[in-house]
This record gives sequence, C-alpha cells and structure tokens, in this order.
Amino acid sequence: MTLPTQQSAQTLLDNMHSAMLVINSKLSIEYMNPSAEMMFQISFAQAKSRPIQDLVIAEPEFISRITSSLQTQHPFSAYEDDLLVRTGQTLALDYMASPIDYENCDQCLLLEFVSRGRQRKMSHEEHLLNQNEASRSLLRGLAHEIKNPLGGIRGAAQLLERSLNTEQDREFTQVIIREADRLKQLVDRMLGPRDIPNKNQLNIHQVLEHVRSLVRVEAKQVNFIADYDPSLPEIYGDESMLIQAVLNITRNAIKEVADDGEITFRTRPIRHYTIGHNTYPLVAKIDVIDNGPGIPEELKENLFLPMVTGHAEGTGLGLSIAQTLINQHHGLIEFTSTPGHTVFTLLLPLNTSSE
Ligand SMILES: Nc1ncnc2c1ncn2[C@@H]1O[C@H](COP(=O)(O)OP(=O)(O)O)[C@@H](O)[C@H]1O
Ligand SMILES: [Mg+2]
Repeated sequence: MTLPTQQSAQTLLDNMHSAMLVINSKLSIEYMNPSAEMMFQISFAQAKSRPIQDLVIAEPEFISRITSSLQTQHPFSAYEDDLLVRTGQTLALDYMASPIDYENCDQCLLLEFVSRGRQRKMSHEEHLLNQNEASRSLLRGLAHEIKNPLGGIRGAAQLLERSLNTEQDREFTQVIIREADRLKQLVDRMLGPRDIPNKNQLNIHQVLEHVRSLVRVEAKQVNFIADYDPSLPEIYGDESMLIQAVLNITRNAIKEVADDGEITFRTRPIRHYTIGHNTYPLVAKIDVIDNGPGIPEELKENLFLPMVTGHAEGTGLGLSIAQTLINQHHGLIEFTSTPGHTVFTLLLPLNTSSE
C-alpha cells in the first residue's frame, strides 16, 4: 500500500463534497477546502486566521461544543442542526469534529460539515414523483373499471328508450343517458392526459402569455404581472400540455385571490440543477405567485393527489394533472405557501432535445 503524496492528499480534499475546516485552539481558521469556501461563501485566503464565529454566527451552543472538544480532545458529532452562517442563511447541517495535529498547531480541530438540505430536498422530490405515479395508476385502473359497464348502461338505456311511447317515460331514460355521459366525462378527466407529448422547440414566455390572455377574460379585476428573464433559452416540449399545466395552476390562484388580487408569472434559468435522480445543465424555473390566503395546512401533504380539494365543488384533479404533464417533460412542480404569498414552481429541464 502506498500512502498518498501531499499533492494527491490535497486533490482528495479539494474534491470532497463535505466542507472541511481546521481550526486551532483559539478557534481561528487554519485551513478550509473548496466545499467549505462554497458553503460559507468566502475564500480560504479571506477566511485564514479569522475566528470560526465569523463563519458560523450567533451560535453559542455550537461554539461551546467545539471549545469543549478542543479542551477534552474528544471528538463529537451533531445531526440535523440548524446553523446560521455568515451569508445570513440558516443551513441544516450534520457536523463532525475530530481533534487532530495539523502542521504547526498541535491542538487543532477538524470540522466536517455535510448539508442536510440537499438530502431532504431529494427525498421530498422523490416522494412527489412516486406519489403522483402511484395515485395515477390506481385511478387509471379504477376509471377503466367504471367506463366499461357505463358504456353498457348507456347503450341499454338507448335501446329501452325506443320501446317507450310517452315523452314522460323517455324522460327517465334521458336521465340515465345524461348521467352516464356526465360520469364518463368525469372518468375521462380522471384518466388524465393520455396523449404522448408532441414536442417542439418553444418559447415558454409564449406559453405564459397565452395563459395570461385566456385568464384575463375570466378574471378582469386580477392584476397580472409578468417578470420574465428574456435570456431563458427555448424549451423542448408539448405546447398544449404546458399551457394546460400552467392554466390549472393559474385558475387555482384566481379562485383564491381577492378582488384586488395579484398574480405574477416569473421565469428564471437555474444552472446545474437536479430533479429526481438527474442533474441537468440548465433548468427553467417558472413561478406562479399569488397573494391569496394560502393553501390550507391540512391539504399541503397530499396536495398533488387526485381528489384532494379545498372546495366543495372541486374535483381535486387540476394539480394532479398538471404534475403528470410536467413529469412527462422530465420536470417537477413544487410549492411553498404562507398567507399572502403562495408560489407554485414548475421546474423544466432545458437542452433535452437529444432524447
Ligand atoms: N394558489 C392557491 N392558493 C390556495 N390554495 C390553493 C392554491 N392552489 C391550489 N390550492 C388548493 O389546492 C386544492 C386542489 O387544487 P386542484 O388539484 O386544482 O383541485 P380543485 O381546483 O378541483 O380543487 C384547491 O381546492 C385549493 O384548496
Ligand atoms: Mg383546480
């Protein structure tokens, strides 16, 4: 076995995903790797010899833990701790501290930070994707089971109608036929989009403007704001599917906002972004923001499931269908909601025309 040379040890440290820092007994920074530079948004040159409290700020418990680890020379670990860092962000971190000898300081502490936020986000996204797939296949099975006998009932009612003589009697068969048709429509909606996407290069802003022109007629009093990033490249997608997805989300927002409501369409590119298990070089982020009362707390967990609705007359299909349509573009819909500020975010990978 050969030990790594100093240079290859450096290469290992430079390429690690965890943020690594070495601090001395006065809590000043002796070393940090590039991941730590990224996490704390500061270069090693700038951070060198500065106290750790400049990076992890206002966290007395964290400081007392590392101080006692330095004194006792005992390592320790903490999991899922929320730490306020110099960028003003609170990061959910796992961190480990190990006393080490490092260069010319013989009582140093190696600190290793791993971001939990990323892991949490990944499992949340996976949950959204799986949940949608499972519920849709359940619904599809159920819908087919209803549709077949429904055709039989409707046909039989039509045959029966022929042998009825009075208008009064025919009214009853008409009820059967009408209700069967209504049920078939509902079931067709439950089945959701079945078409294979017909994808072309298209400008997402045209999609948004199209939706805006449709809903402006329905909600004249709502103030629509467009905040577009014109540098966003074209998307390879099915225009009518994307229109339907944005429309479902926008119609929900219209229903919730008051008369002086405000709905904003915002677009931004994000570089190097992971959706599910795939990382894409460029992703379009499309936000639909409204200032309505927000999503009821009890709906949040299962919002994208079919039949989950906050309205007596609702079907709860709008968001489930929108999620399916965006999944067919390898994308994802997420949301955050507090009273007065609800954001539905469509994430759509770009540059996927080679598929
Ligand atoms: N922008 C929003 N603000 C507040 N609640 C919302 C918003 N969008 C969706 N919701 C809630 O999510 C529910 C589900 O929406 P959806 O799947 O479209 O079904 P439906 O519109 O038929 O109820 C809505 O009934 C509503 O309670
Ligand atoms: Mg809806």
